[in-house]
This record gives sequence, structure tokens and C-alpha cells, in this order.
Amino acid sequence: MAGNWTPRSWREKPIKQVPDYADQAQLEAVEQQLAAYPPLVFAGEARKLKKSLGEVAEGRAFLLQGGDCAESFAEFSANNIRDTFKVMLQMAVVLTFGAACPVVKVGRLAGQFAKPRSAPTETQDGVELPSYRGDIVNGIDFEEGARRPDPERMVRAYNQASSTLNLLRAFAQGGFADLHQVHQWTQDFVSNSPAGERYRELADRLTECLSFMSACGLTADRVPQIQETDFYTSHEALLLWYEQALTRQDSITNKWYDCSAHMLWIGDRTREPDSAHVEFLRGVENPVGMKCGPSLDPDDLLRMIDILNPRNEPGRLTLITRMGHDKVEKHLPALIRAVEREGRKVVWSSDPMHGNTIKAESGYKTRPFDRILAEVRSFFDVHAAEGTYAGGVHFEMTGRDVTECLGGAQAITDDGLSARYHTHCDPRLNGPQALELAFLIAEQLKTERAALAQSLAAAS
Ligand code: PEP
Ligand code: CO
Repeated sequence: MAGNWTPRSWREKPIKQVPDYADQAQLEAVEQQLAAYPPLVFAGEARKLKKSLGEVAEGRAFLLQGGDCAESFAEFSANNIRDTFKVMLQMAVVLTFGAACPVVKVGRLAGQFAKPRSAPTETQDGVELPSYRGDIVNGIDFEEGARRPDPERMVRAYNQASSTLNLLRAFAQGGFADLHQVHQWTQDFVSNSPAGERYRELADRLTECLSFMSACGLTADRVPQIQETDFYTSHEALLLWYEQALTRQDSITNKWYDCSAHMLWIGDRTREPDSAHVEFLRGVENPVGMKCGPSLDPDDLLRMIDILNPRNEPGRLTLITRMGHDKVEKHLPALIRAVEREGRKVVWSSDPMHGNTIKAESGYKTRPFDRILAEVRSFFDVHAAEGTYAGGVHFEMTGRDVTECLGGAQAITDDGLSARYHTHCDPRLNGPQALELAFLIAEQLKTERAALAQSLAAAS
């Protein structure tokens, strides 16, 4: 594919948001070690995800992407992985019902370690140290030794990603993902949530559907989809030494795949056309994403699409817009119109997290549930007005009962944030908040489908 591209051609380009490793020999030793390790995912799986995302681009499926802002070594446990996976499954079932189409599930998991930061250093009480860049780079403690970038952390991150993937594969295929089981958890949520009544009707209709399916003989022994699911992994391709070391040539197609995850994305801070991060991602065959913040103008977007998806392959490129709840209407229509005018096939997804981060009076970085919901609604409204397909959502969330985002049915207040504020980076939706959002989005999708059916009937 891409002319002059090699897995290391990014090294010739200007690079941002990466650590300064003091010991180059140690860095190279780690790169060699990782390059000799087995890939974490297989090219065929990345191709399968690309095909599913192609269905999203064509309006026949919906994308749910979510997980930690930053995975950490400290929070690594089977229970955490299970709980995030479980909430994502519940959300997917609710969304499948609302959207009446398959939901493609992609975790921010098993590799989401490296973080871009707003400043390279942090100062506390007159002491200046390198910023924390995620556990794959350095430690979060404000202390000189911890903050020194250490290449060995890449090996630890690889091992954690490998165990995480192993468990996810077992959960997805081993019976844990059974639709009836997932729905039972959702009914428990409806019974226990202060806003449960609002969601009961939708949940009850799902119960009826599942009973009807069983009565028709659609049971797990005949229809494997009832008990198994596809679950993919993704992360920001930020730490390019790690990504390059896991980039392998597929023996079937001879093409290059970044086998650290099924899908990789470029962050809003590293998406310049001639930069190292763009150079790296343009040459791998995985499905890729690009974050689109309010500073992206339509011409730059088209240039990026030319670079990242020159063959206009549906499913190759997901545009993840993250404008802020009050900026979607201002910025999104021009981007959509440029893409439509040029006939580019993309998946449009909404990240309602990163444009809605505020500092609470208590000093905590937080995100109000209402603004997150407002951004998603605005995203759907703009697409409806433009006649384009709002194809997915992208959340920072955890299955744990953290108190990091304000509001939701649990009505988390500023005073309540300190109770269980555990994130290593940005504030995440907790399990009930994430599921509640899925219900609200499902309601919106259902209303839109009904409106569309009505207008089609009126036109015929
Ligand atoms: C992220 O997704 O964690 C992130 C840093 O996002 P963005 O690049 O959109 O700011
Ligand atoms: Co984040």
C-alpha cells in the first residue's frame, strides 16, 4: 500500500506527545524483546472488524466503543475487566434493541495505556517533574524516580494486555456473554436504579422478545450468537516504539498490521498531516480512528481522509468527534458536508467525554452527565438534519462503582466525587451511568426509526 511506508518510517517525521527516554540502548533492547513476542491480535480479526465497521459506515450496524481513559497497572484485576466487559455487553443489548441493528463492540482495553498531556512537565510546590504519560511510560506518583520514563514498562504493559485479552476472549466465547444472562443483569439494574421506572418499558419489551425467541426454538444450542459475541480491542496509537514492535506482516496477505489491538486511533493532539503518528497509522491495514476536535477544519479533514483512507474503503476510518456539548452544532455540519460532497465513506462516532471536562469547585476534574448526554443528542440531531448516519458512540467508562462524573440517576454531586475517585487520567462514567446513557440513546434511536418509518409511509 502506502508508498515509501515502512513500520519505522514514522521516525523521520516530527513527533509530539512522547517521552524522552534517557537510555537509548535500553529502549532498543526493549523494542527487540517486544518484536520477538507473539502478536496480541491476528490480522484476520482486524479484517473482520473492518468489515463490521464497513457495515456501520453503510448505516447497517452501530458502533459501541468504550473503556478506561487510561488502563493502569494498579487497577489490573479480573474483576475490573469482567465488570467493564459486562456493562459494555448490557449497553450493547440495549442499543441493539433501540437501533434494531447489530452493535459492534470495541473496548478501550488491553493496550490503552499511553496518554497525551497538555504540558510536558508538572509543577507542585515549586518542584517540576515530567508529566505522567500513562503506566506504559512512567508512574503517576509525583516523585522523581516514578516520573522518569522507563522502557521496561512497555513489557509490563504488553503482558497485562495479553492477560486482559485472554480473559476477554474467554468471556466473549465461553458462555459469560449469554443474552439471557446479560438481560438478567439489566433487569437488576432497572429494579435498583432510582431512574429504573423510566427504563422498565424498554427492558420489559426485551424480556418479551427473548421469551418469544426461545419459544421459536432460537436457543443457544442452535444459534451460537445467543451465547457468544465478538468483542474487539482498541487504543490510541501514541507510543510508537510499542506499536512498531507489535507491527507484523500478515502471512496470508503480506500486508502490515499493528497487532497490538484490532483498532487504533489518532488523538486530537497528534493528528497533523505530516506527523509521525499519522505516518505510522497510514501504513497499517487495521481499522483506524481519528479524533476530531473543534479546531479541525473541513479542508484539513479531507486531507487526513486522503492520507488515512486513500482507497475509500468503508470501515477503514472512523471519525470520532469530540466537540463539547455546545459546539457540535457549530462545527459538525461543515465536516459532514465536506465528507458527503467528496463521497467519502466513513463511520461517524461521538465521543461526548473529551469536550466536556470541567474542574469542579472541589478541584476534581469531572464531566457532568447532562453535558455528555447533550453532546450525544446534538450529534444525532445534526446527522438527522444532514441526512447522514450517526454510527456510534465512544465512552470513557468502567464497570466499577466510581464517583468521577457528576449527575446521572445516582445524582453524584461535587461533594460526592471524592468518595471513589480512582481514575489515572480523565473521569469515567461508572457502570450505572454508562447503562443509563445506553437506555437514553436507545430511546432516541427508537424515536428516530419511528419518525423515519412515518416519513417513508407518508411519501409512498
Ligand atoms: C482519549 O481518548 O483519551 C483522548 C486523549 O482523547 P482526545 O485525543 O480526543 O483528547
Ligand atoms: Co481521556
